[in-house]
Amino acid sequence: ITVYVPRDSAALAAGADRVARCIAKEAAARGLMLEIVRNGSRGMFWLEPLVEVNTPAGRIAYGPVTPDDVAGLFDAGFITGGRHPLALGPTEEIPYLKKQERLTFSRMGITDPVSLTDYQAYEGFAGLRRALALAPEDIVQQVLDSGLRGRGGAAFPAGIKWKTVLGTAAAQKYIVCNADEGDSGTYSDRMTMEGDPFMLIEGMTIAGLATGATQGYIYVRSEYPHAIATLNEAIRIAEAAGFLGDNILRSGKRFSLAVRKGAGSYVCGEETALLESLEGKRGIVRAKPPLPAIEGLFGKPTLINNVITLASVPLILARGAAFYRDYGVGRSRGTLPMQLAGNIKYGGLVEKAFGVTLRELLYDYGGGSASGRPIKAVQVGGPLGAYLPESKWDLPLDYEAYAAVGGTVGHGGIVVHDDTADLSKLARYAMEFCALESCGKCTPCRIGSTRGVEVIDKIRGNQNRPQQVMLLRDLCDTMVHGSLCAMGGMTPFPVLSALDHFPQDFGIEAPDRK
Ligand code: NAI
Ligand code: SF4
Repeated sequence: ITVYVPRDSAALAAGADRVARCIAKEAAARGLMLEIVRNGSRGMFWLEPLVEVNTPAGRIAYGPVTPDDVAGLFDAGFITGGRHPLALGPTEEIPYLKKQERLTFSRMGITDPVSLTDYQAYEGFAGLRRALALAPEDIVQQVLDSGLRGRGGAAFPAGIKWKTVLGTAAAQKYIVCNADEGDSGTYSDRMTMEGDPFMLIEGMTIAGLATGATQGYIYVRSEYPHAIATLNEAIRIAEAAGFLGDNILRSGKRFSLAVRKGAGSYVCGEETALLESLEGKRGIVRAKPPLPAIEGLFGKPTLINNVITLASVPLILARGAAFYRDYGVGRSRGTLPMQLAGNIKYGGLVEKAFGVTLRELLYDYGGGSASGRPIKAVQVGGPLGAYLPESKWDLPLDYEAYAAVGGTVGHGGIVVHDDTADLSKLARYAMEFCALESCGKCTPCRIGSTRGVEVIDKIRGNQNRPQQVMLLRDLCDTMVHGSLCAMGGMTPFPVLSALDHFPQDFGIEAPDRK
């Protein structure tokens, strides 16, 4: 009998370790032979710790389980799928999961994250095996044809970036995975590293074969100790089994991987600041050009992609570009693991093809606000994303459709606020966040964000409001057009969207556009 208790940070925070210990103890006391597998999370956080048991009828779920529930679960015969108030039925039939289109997250919560046997039983390394038989140009062509765009937020076509690195001759090239997941309400990178690390390792190895890079680094934020430990363990296992190293599966090709830990700076998620940090320097943004694809880590051609971008590649190689491209709308192809957070009843990970609407995500999946009050504003795409009012919730989730209304899909973070939120306060927070995290290299961001906080304080304090609103818009304009990177360049998005859509929160009557 196999019982699954997740080892994902979200489950650990809800007491999964204690639950696993209680289950082991209770089984021993009852003389039952149980195997407890520590799987990744299914991404339904309100049900964590979600305990599953393998039965002839498939996996049956129970949750959220506390240590106090364990004896009762045994009494109810949960190890054979017995009835109990916490029983949720077959895991795959839970509507939240069943309605998803899990491509990148297909193994998530199903497998033991560090079991190569599990990984390979669910298509693991099929993409790498195919890539080993292809020429670098053909691998890049697959990525180009899939329509995959950078999932870190900028949505730049991944294949074009790969092609640039492949086409730049150098004795040494690098693959860098940006795992400095800093956006508010986001966790898809963390779940991947903790719950399916071989997928990222496989994606990076394929990227190495495609571009001619032989060394890879995963730059993980220091706030993710479990992800760092799991990755290190998975890298050791993959190396020992010949999936990494000097002679990958006896092909004569080589690729090595190492994990590097960040030091708590948001701007180190910006690719050039990340490279500086990786080189051991202070994380300050470099001016582009040169692009990292041409002159990146230690001045060498470097492919930098986000975790989810790289993790999407094994499936594209294994099933073919057309399979992936068939999901999605317009130029937004494939799926996006979206992350519901904030004031939402059912927070968790929802992987769907592009084209889903925010309203579906908020109500069909999220079940409305956690507080039970009406939802007022939704910030999509992290702390630099716009606040979207209800009039925008029926837009298809699509990079271009969002950009057209001043929004951003970003890394797929969705943070919900109910009608008690004061958008002028949230706008102030955006400026304050920028002031705290600015690397200080350029004036619009370094000075502008501090002045922005002051101006919003004046508006909130009703000091010469009309003039201060004009000043704030002017300042935002300078930041958008004059900042060196997205930190200063995008901070105005939440501020302007708050002003435009929720003027009453600033004590002004209507959108006061210049
Ligand atoms: P960008 O538009 O400057 O660049 C996108 C990527 O494409 C970069 O890697 C760049 O080097 C590459 N690129 C551009 N032209 C190229 C070419 N011709 N050949 C090869 N590569 C090329 O955007 P940036 O500043 O890298 O990212 C901004 C985004 O980051 C924002 O949209 C925001 O959503 C996101 N972000 C994500 C966070 C997270 O936690 N995932 C945190 C903060 C921001
Ligand atoms: Fe640094 Fe801000 Fe300028 Fe970016 S916009 S380079 S974070 S000062």
